[in-house]
Amino acid sequence: MSENFKRFRPNRVDEETRAKFRETKISISDFILPLFIVEGTDVVEELSSMKEVFHLSVDKVVEYLTPMVESGLTSVLLFGVPHSKGVTQAYDADGIVQNTIRIIKKTFPNVEVICDVCICSFTESGHCHIGDNDSTIELLAKIAVSYAKAGADIVAPSDMMDGRVWAIKRALSEENLTTPIMSYAAKYASHFYGPFRDAADCAPQEGDRRGYQMDYANSDEAIAEINADLEEGAQSIIVKPALSYLDIIRRAKDSFDTEIIAYNVSGEYSILRSGVENGIVAEMAIYESLLSMKRAGANRIISYFVPWFIRFSS
Ligand code: PBG
Repeated sequence: MSENFKRFRPNRVDEETRAKFRETKISISDFILPLFIVEGTDVVEELSSMKEVFHLSVDKVVEYLTPMVESGLTSVLLFGVPHSKGVTQAYDADGIVQNTIRIIKKTFPNVEVICDVCICSFTESGHCHIGDNDSTIELLAKIAVSYAKAGADIVAPSDMMDGRVWAIKRALSEENLTTPIMSYAAKYASHFYGPFRDAADCAPQEGDRRGYQMDYANSDEAIAEINADLEEGAQSIIVKPALSYLDIIRRAKDSFDTEIIAYNVSGEYSILRSGVENGIVAEMAIYESLLSMKRAGANRIISYFVPWFIRFSS
């Protein structure tokens, strides 16, 4: 009697066989670790909203990074969190981000230093703009140039103003800088950023970010945003958040021949961690969720789970 069905289970019979048929793999080199840099010295302070994520002063960054770099971490994303507000500090050649770039590049020349370019930690309002779009993009360009001059490998605008990639590209080339731009092209007005806003002290004082970040009901618009940023000169693009947006990651991957980065945001991190700590889901749920981002099409993942991943894979 001939069978009229296909057998899938033989490929799942044991771990060795499953490993042979596994389509997606992740390793430490797929990750970009966000770092929150504060003023002062000797600061290594765990955030109350995010376990195992720290405020670090410039002098502590190397010590903090060393074991992770030794475990294969290749890339970091810097956020400056100033003590008092004021946007001019963001482009101070001697600012906290600029000094961190220099110290990381000097100690670990092979570690890629990406700098988030935004002003929401620097404005009194907590918004990513200073009122109007077009003066904001000039300011962002100035900040990006300052980071590039300090030695950043990549600048990553996360503000969602229109034309910021164009303005940054123009300003960089006026200074003969060729620093690549990784744009947060598809960044949604998400409810999953809560813990980050404590970490970066950037919660809007009034209103929300729906006037500039994307409406989470939209998908075609993400493709249009990515397309515009690539036309303006971005080299790689970020989809943010990741977990509720795996469809967007997949569409981006299928539509563009460029590096797609998933931002596994703070809310996704803290929810999953607390789920594990409270015994609601098994710890492997973390691995499953990280893997899903790569399976969806992400080339790399920005994630606070880097220390966890290193522990897990060693
Ligand atoms: C600010 C910025 C935010 C994040 C990265 N850059 C917050 C926001 O847009 O409100 C979120 C990161 C995270 O939640 O992990 N421009």
